[in-house]
Amino acid sequence: MNNIKAIIGGTGIYDIGTDVYSETIQTEYGDVAVDIVNIKDEKIVFLSRHGKTHSTPPHLINYRANMKALCMLGVTHVYATVAVGSINNNFGLGDVVIINDFMDFTKARNNTFFDGTNGVKHVDMSDPYCKMLRVKFSEYAGNHNIDVKGNAVYVCTEGPRFETATEIKGYRLLGADVVGMTNVPEVVLAKELGICYSAVGIITNWATGFKDEEITFHDIKGSLKKNKEKITSAFIEILSTELNKAECNCANSVISL
Ligand code: HPA
Repeated sequence: MNNIKAIIGGTGIYDIGTDVYSETIQTEYGDVAVDIVNIKDEKIVFLSRHGKTHSTPPHLINYRANMKALCMLGVTHVYATVAVGSINNNFGLGDVVIINDFMDFTKARNNTFFDGTNGVKHVDMSDPYCKMLRVKFSEYAGNHNIDVKGNAVYVCTEGPRFETATEIKGYRLLGADVVGMTNVPEVVLAKELGICYSAVGIITNWATGFKDEEITFHDIKGSLKKNKEKITSAFIEILSTELNKAECNCANSVISL
């Protein structure tokens, strides 16, 4: 057995198959249910971000418990999916993008493990999404007919409401390509724990006011369906190979003062 890896499934992705066993991990932040599957020589943990029945809204997800549970299981690498609205004409419904940076417009979330009890710590955000995992996904996609449309800057809003048209115009001006409600603080907590983390976005809708279209749940489901199996099998294939922590700086991003 080598390292333990994980997949976090976002909206529309609630399992990675049937040959799994379930475990509940008790953390200081709360309990977390995961599915575990043995593939080749590797253990892959699956965590459904919103719960198996999509019962937890984005602003109430226990991000710290989720990431702490993965850490307690010994997880070293994580791929996640995020359903996103597009604020970029180049990224249309059903398209796949690799998230390479974020802007944080959340308001009321427990967004750090660094609460001062172990001194003052900061985490470097110059490369929030693990470069090695991003490159591996991009290469795999190129060889397996997954049409990645490009890198995307993710703006995270608090939700659960969607954005106003004016907010979306503002986020576009600030440099965002896609909008969602869940990737922050997940990506930050992963980095605080030294876990390599990469998120792949699936465009489910045009963001509010970006085109003359309403956001419908029908769009969201249909767009996810198109690519979710290809993406989860890409994650499993990549994660079941040997991955080298020396190829990125994720394990050394915490600065203690
Ligand atoms: N806004 C916020 N979160 C989302 C959206 C959106 O348009 N689409 C999917 N998640």
